Amino acid sequence: MSTTNNELRVGMVGYAFMGAAHSQAWRTVNRVYDLPARARMVLVCGRDSGKVADAADRLGWEGHTTDWRELVNRPDIDVVDICTPGDSHAEIALAALAAGKHVLCEKPLANTVAEAREMAAAAATAQAGGARSMCGFNYRRVPAVALMRQLIADGRLGEIRHVRATYLQDWIVDPQFPLVWRLRKEVSGSGALGDIGAHIIDLTQYVTGQRISGVSAVTETFVKERPLPAESSGLAAQADGAGAATGQVTVDDAAIFVARLDGGALATYEATRFATGRKNALRVEINGSLGSVAFDLERLNELEFLDATRPSAEQGFNRILVTEAEHPYLSAWWPPGHIIGYEHSFTHQMRDFIEAVATGVDPSPSFAEALQVQLVLDAVTRSADLGSSWTEVEPSLASVAA
Ligand SMILES: NC(=O)c1ccc[n+]([C@@H]2O[C@H](COP(=O)([O-])OP(=O)(O)OC[C@H]3O[C@@H](n4cnc5c(N)ncnc54)[C@H](O)[C@@H]3O)[C@@H](O)[C@H]2O)c1
Repeated sequence: MSTTNNELRVGMVGYAFMGAAHSQAWRTVNRVYDLPARARMVLVCGRDSGKVADAADRLGWEGHTTDWRELVNRPDIDVVDICTPGDSHAEIALAALAAGKHVLCEKPLANTVAEAREMAAAAATAQAGGARSMCGFNYRRVPAVALMRQLIADGRLGEIRHVRATYLQDWIVDPQFPLVWRLRKEVSGSGALGDIGAHIIDLTQYVTGQRISGVSAVTETFVKERPLPAESSGLAAQADGAGAATGQVTVDDAAIFVARLDGGALATYEATRFATGRKNALRVEINGSLGSVAFDLERLNELEFLDATRPSAEQGFNRILVTEAEHPYLSAWWPPGHIIGYEHSFTHQMRDFIEAVATGVDPSPSFAEALQVQLVLDAVTRSADLGSSWTEVEPSLASVAA
């Protein structure tokens, strides 16, 4: 599929947290970057007609609907952007690909390996007709993370020995926090593992260019029963929204695993929603034979880099302020030192997506790459279920690097 009058007419399903972040990015991307096509925000979909009308108005969409099937089948939609919980990713993406639309789907790609496999196969078939697809692992698009990848690809770290990744949150430490969709397996697929663990799996594989080949894992559900929410809601739900009835938490609260990467590195991963005081602490450190890099999302404009080839008396972690025009994504933003934030990773994601679609190349991470992440999530779950037994990650055909 080509673009119409250099326009990519977007329809987005779901308008809450990610819907707002994606809307911000669709609104901004063509004002910042000079791109071969212009995104037009044609239609937004939600289940409640009043709320979706408000959302369309607030977020800048021309129209709204309560039926995602209408959205994916409308001839004036080129791109379907999926911002719903995981239980509807496969159904919406498969319908959109069958209708010849380009698809951007939030992470994790699906709730099961079987769904992800079906989506990757459908994406491969649709690609023959020119439809492109991508999964929304937005942290790849933080400039400091992209720089980390460049340094590793340029050999500045030498042979990678260690990958250390943590993604820590604390929003359900209170046992009275209600049973929102993220705590129900039938909606979310898994808990901290798929929600935030998926991000550090993708990010570390992306920056190292290596894949996780095997894992040994532990998972835990610390609070097994919670009050039912007054109204089903997302991260923003508050404990005081809860009613008297309770229900079972059916996902992990925390997942920790050790892993081997296929390039020889040893890795540790920790994803938890019980790290009291840690709000959204994504940290990655990579140690190689010639140097190390460290990234902390709370200081996302910075990358720490130690160059072990320098004289030992001069060595030490350098803080690179990643705001120079020659740093990834930054030439179109502000002068050096004028920092950017979380939302920019989504603008960068839309930039790469539009550029790929308009120039007829496959965006990354493809559905096949996202299937590979799903295979890691599955191996972690199986290992934990088997008392942490070593579990190989089934190989997929996806290449990890773009
Ligand atoms: N990339 C990131 O950093 C990041 C961050 C948060 C969430 N996510 C992912 O984004 C997705 C959505 O998460 P969220 O935090 O935005 O959730 P949310 O609860 O804030 O929003 C979900 C939206 O989907 C809508 N929805 C649900 N089922 C629907 C259906 N059948 N038809 C139409 N609309 C439907 C809801 O009404 C709501 O608008 C999930 O896959 C999640 O893992 C990604």
